[in-house]
Amino acid sequence: NMAHSRQKKLDKMDIINKPKEKIKPTFSFLEARTPGKVLFECQNLVIGYDSPLTQPMDMIFERSQKVAIKGVNGLGKTTLLKTLIGMLKPYSGIVIQDLFVQIGFFKQEEAALKRTALDYIWDEFPDRTNGEIRGMLAKCGLTTDHIESLMMVLSGGENAKARLCKIMNREANVLVLDEPTNHLDVDAKESLQQALIAFKGAVILVSHEPEFYLPIVDKVINLEECSTKIV
Ligand SMILES: Nc1ncnc2c1ncn2[C@@H]1O[C@H](COP(=O)(O)OP(=O)(O)O)[C@@H](O)[C@H]1O
Ligand SMILES: [Mg+2]
Repeated sequence: NMAHSRQKKLDKMDIINKPKEKIKPTFSFLEARTPGKVLFECQNLVIGYDSPLTQPMDMIFERSQKVAIKGVNGLGKTTLLKTLIGMLKPYSGIVIQDLFVQIGFFKQEEAALKRTALDYIWDEFPDRTNGEIRGMLAKCGLTTDHIESLMMVLSGGENAKARLCKIMNREANVLVLDEPTNHLDVDAKESLQQALIAFKGAVILVSHEPEFYLPIVDKVINLEECSTKIV
């Protein structure tokens, strides 16, 4: 009888899940020595692969500038970033890079990695202790569970936090970020925005979210105006 009435009580109760451990990230980027005034100078730059994606462009990116690059998908925003930093060859024209540029590059997508987040960061900073690496990842909002998980099984947001961890702990004087907020939660976005405002070097940021980038940047480049495509 008692069991029966207890069961009834239990049936009336709502099942709630134990709240998941959540830490607010606090991003901050290490700054490298000041480079020359002009970081990247593009002269008649056309980006593209088998065919050109843009008209010839003349652009200058300075060390004190924070710039957003916007435009609909498929125009060549990622291609432009990779061409600027020398990962891709221009279709034509040239990019002149200052000798002292130190780039922190956040890729739009990272290949699935069979490394734990811990090892992913430790590979980069082999002279640190286990505890130090865990501390660095925790600062980016990752829990012990995340830290010990393979990068490839982390959610998009957790994966992005681990990748930001790697970038922010390496000295840079220009941060080149390709849609860094795509998977980030509100707290992480806010913290990243504060960190980019506080960063004294240059920022070149691809983003679709004006509420994120407008408080950071002093210039917006609309790639639609340079495209060979009609948008
Ligand atoms: N490795 C590649 N080889 C050939 N074409 C590519 C390659 N990567 C991207 N593209 C093409 O170049 C165009 C621009 O791509 P992308 O720079 O990624 O645009 P966005 O970042 O603005 O969305 C797209 O049409 C895309 O399909
Ligand atoms: Mg892209």
